[in-house]
Order: sequence, then structure tokens, then C-alpha cells
Amino acid sequence: MDVAFLRGGFVPLADANISIRTHSFLYGTGVFEGIKAYWSPTAELLYIFRAEDHYLRLLNSCKILRLTCPQSLEQMIQLSVEILQRNQIRTDTYLRPIVYKADCRIGPILTVPDTQDDFCLFAEPMGAYLAKGAEGLHLGVSSWRRLDDNMIPARAKVNGAYVNTALAKTDAHLMGFDDALVLTADGHIAEGSAMNFMMVRNGTLITPSVTENILEGITRDTILTLAAQELGLSIEKRAVDRTEVYIADEILLCGTAAEVSSVTQVDYHPIGDGKPGPITRSLSSLFDKLIHGHLPQYQHWLTPVTPGQ
Ligand SMILES: Cc1ncc(COP(=O)(O)O)c(C=O)c1O
Repeated sequence: MDVAFLRGGFVPLADANISIRTHSFLYGTGVFEGIKAYWSPTAELLYIFRAEDHYLRLLNSCKILRLTCPQSLEQMIQLSVEILQRNQIRTDTYLRPIVYKADCRIGPILTVPDTQDDFCLFAEPMGAYLAKGAEGLHLGVSSWRRLDDNMIPARAKVNGAYVNTALAKTDAHLMGFDDALVLTADGHIAEGSAMNFMMVRNGTLITPSVTENILEGITRDTILTLAAQELGLSIEKRAVDRTEVYIADEILLCGTAAEVSSVTQVDYHPIGDGKPGPITRSLSSLFDKLIHGHLPQYQHWLTPVTPGQ
């Protein structure tokens, strides 16, 4: 039977429900993470990718939203291991932990006396989220702008903020694109709908800095590390103009769900020669090796999980 974690215990997924009066349902006042566990058929193990870093980011999101997480960092990592085992998972799987304002009440204020914050977690099999392969992704610059740090901070993974993502992603799909490129209020590239943006120009890997209203992506950090350590690339973190994108040699999107995805068109401009470029292909292949436990120097980023029987 599928199990989830809610209100301090494991329950059947079908019983893991909240009231329609819950604050986080009424106002979007929850924070979450998306974590991937990869099945290694050779090792017969699951590897949770950068669990500690995801839960540290969750705790930072809690801090920004004035939420009190009822579980410690270590407990949340342990619960992630346990949910995979209890569900007897032997395939690539997405973990969704959420810390949410659990009070049933009207009124948006976060800090009333006796307010209750809960932690919940579910697991769901997930393969490739974005189409990859030879063709690469076609993106359109969205007419929706990215939320600003002084509106709903992109640095925190706030449930309610994903209305912004949903609007941008849906419009992109309705217009026939695979995904959106979302600009900051001042017109620089922020990120994809829910993935970080990188481009290659003249051999340098360039990505918007953390002050450009991006989520401080864990895959972004991983790719920047691989690019510097394994490929010796020079890296720039800075504001990126829209028209730089059109003349980039290569573009990639990266994120927990998207992994490393090559972008071959933006607003119908072919990127480079219109095919996935060599640096993107190298980074994608290194990332794939890393998450499946084939790069010993990065083993500390993987939490091995023996599957449940
Ligand atoms: C808005 C947004 N940007 C970027 C990312 C990528 O971050 P990470 O690599 O930590 O998953 C995500 C999450 O997947 C996201 O929701």
C-alpha cells in the first residue's frame, strides 16, 4: 500500500488529507522541496541526491516564511529513506516534503499565538520531466515576469509562488513551446519555469546570479561544480540580457525534475547550430554518472537506500 507522512506519522496515502479550511490551502502558506531518488540497477540501491542540501534549503524557506519545522534535518533525511523503503520503491522517484501552516482559520497573518505548522512527505515515481534527446527544447520568453524578492521571494520555495510558474509554463505550452524563459521585472533572464538557466558564450559558462530572483538551485550548484572541477570551464554569475540568449553558443536548463536539458531554440532563434552543444552534452553525461553513483568523488552527495522488501 502507498504510504505518506503527515501529522507526525506514516499513514496510507488515501488517508493523508487536510481540511479545506487549512491556512496553507487558503493562502499558499507552505514551503516545499522536490528531491529525486535514483534507482541504480547495478548496485540494487536507491540514491537520494543531495538530501541534506534540499532539507537545509527547506529550513531556510521556513525561516523566510516564519514557519516552524517540527522535524530536524536528520529526522527529515531519515523519513525520506523510510518512505522509499515502506513503499518498496525500485525506480527513479520524486520526493515532495512540505512544511505548511496547518491551522484552520481565516486571516493571512503568519504569527498568531498557538499557530501550528506541520511537515508532510510523499513519494511518486518520476522519469524524465522534460523531453530531452537529439532535438533539444524550444523555449519562448514569457510575458509573465518572475516574482521579485520583495513580493514573494524566489529564494524560498513557497507553494503560493508556483502560481507564477503555472502561468508561465501553461502559456508556453499553449503557444507550442516546451517551456518558458522568465524575465525579472527589469528584463534580465531569471530562469525557466522551474529550472535554472545557463548559457555558453565563447567557452564560458554563464548563469544569472542569486540576486536575479532565481531559486538557488541545487542542480545549478552541482552543474557549476562539475563545469569547474571536471571540465575546467570558466564561470560567470551575472545579469543576463535577453538578446545574449539569442546569440549564445549553447543553452541548458537544469533542475531536480529537468536534470540537464539542452535548449536548441528560443523565440524561434536557433541556438548555436540548433543542436545540443558539446559542453551541454558533457555536463549532462557527467550529471547522469554522478546521480547513479559512478563518480566516487561526489559520493558524499548521495544517500544510499536499500530498497524495502
Ligand atoms: C523556480 C525553480 N527554479 C529552479 C529550480 C531548480 O532547483 P533544484 O535544482 O534545486 O531543483 C526549481 C526546482 O526544481 C524551481 O522550482
